[in-house]
Amino acid sequence: MNAIKLLGTGRHVPSRCLTNDDLSRMVDTSDQWIRERTGIVTRYLCGEGEGNTSSALAAAKTAMERAGVGPQDIGVCVAATFTADHATPSLACELHQLLGFAETTPAFDVNAACTGFLHALETARCLLAAGRLRAPCALVVGSEALSRITDFTDRSTCVLFGDGAAAAVIRLTDDAPYACVLGARGDTQILRAGGAGEMDRFIHMDGPAVFRFAVDAVPKCIDAVLSQAGMTLSQVDHVICHQANSRIIDYVVRRLKAPPEKFYKNMDRYGNTSAASIPIALDELLEKGLARQGQIALCVGFGAGLTWGGALLKL
Ligand code: ACO
Repeated sequence: MNAIKLLGTGRHVPSRCLTNDDLSRMVDTSDQWIRERTGIVTRYLCGEGEGNTSSALAAAKTAMERAGVGPQDIGVCVAATFTADHATPSLACELHQLLGFAETTPAFDVNAACTGFLHALETARCLLAAGRLRAPCALVVGSEALSRITDFTDRSTCVLFGDGAAAAVIRLTDDAPYACVLGARGDTQILRAGGAGEMDRFIHMDGPAVFRFAVDAVPKCIDAVLSQAGMTLSQVDHVICHQANSRIIDYVVRRLKAPPEKFYKNMDRYGNTSAASIPIALDELLEKGLARQGQIALCVGFGAGLTWGGALLKL
């Protein structure tokens, strides 16, 4: 019983939609530049009364409903985020209260930036596998309110990011392959955000350096997951990459000589939602009927830190 079975997913994005044309009225950019360089067309931002917790709560409720589970079935709640509404309590503890989990259900956040969801998933899986939780399911959430740390006068970053959340209810199964790789290069300069100073709180990123890291790390990660599982890419039904830039995914597809249709993309509508991007893509894929129950997905991410990771999931 070591593999992950997805029982249900849900997603939520806040109400304010910002188009590339909107952004071109705010900074010196254009719809054409953003589309061609990133594949992004729209993104959603938190408006009045919206935040990280409200998105995560809506996503979690949908995931639990679709999974057919109640609060009593959740043995652990792990949220991936680096933009929680408060430094403490954690987003996971806010969800714990709002969803009415039992006192013996632990709840905590993990921060591995855009790779956060995969770190949260593996953490939850290990806790389930250790066999000491009060209930057999885990609620794993990826949720961000990146607009709070985005400098909307900096064209090199503000066109890239969006807010949103997605959640997954998982349990263990022995009826699927499993593999997971996680790591970090320990870089602290290429991508930073949330410092104490006035400007230091915004996202600062050397975009081309992240791009070079991603196109190196993602194919290696995919190869490592497949080799750990003793599988080939043809045995995987879907590859769900962190949705940062369409060109990164195109590069990976070419490098692996893979069928592009196996690599889902939705950054055109959401932008880069960091820890939420992989579960938002998973949820959409399932909701649209593009993926079916029982299929195998390989999720792969990269982000600030520089963190990276990949894992297999049974849908
Ligand atoms: N509109 C118009 N021009 C722009 C914009 C913009 N929004 N942003 C930058 N430019 C200009 C630059 O100033 C530069 O001009 P110059 O040639 O006159 O100096 C030119 O466009 C090219 O800039 P580059 O930064 O070299 O453009 P690049 O093709 O590398 O694209 C991008 C930039 C989109 C950021 C790309 O590098 C990228 O996607 N990197 C990866 C980012 C990422 O994946 N982050 C994920 C991690 S996020 C996390 O963990 C929170």
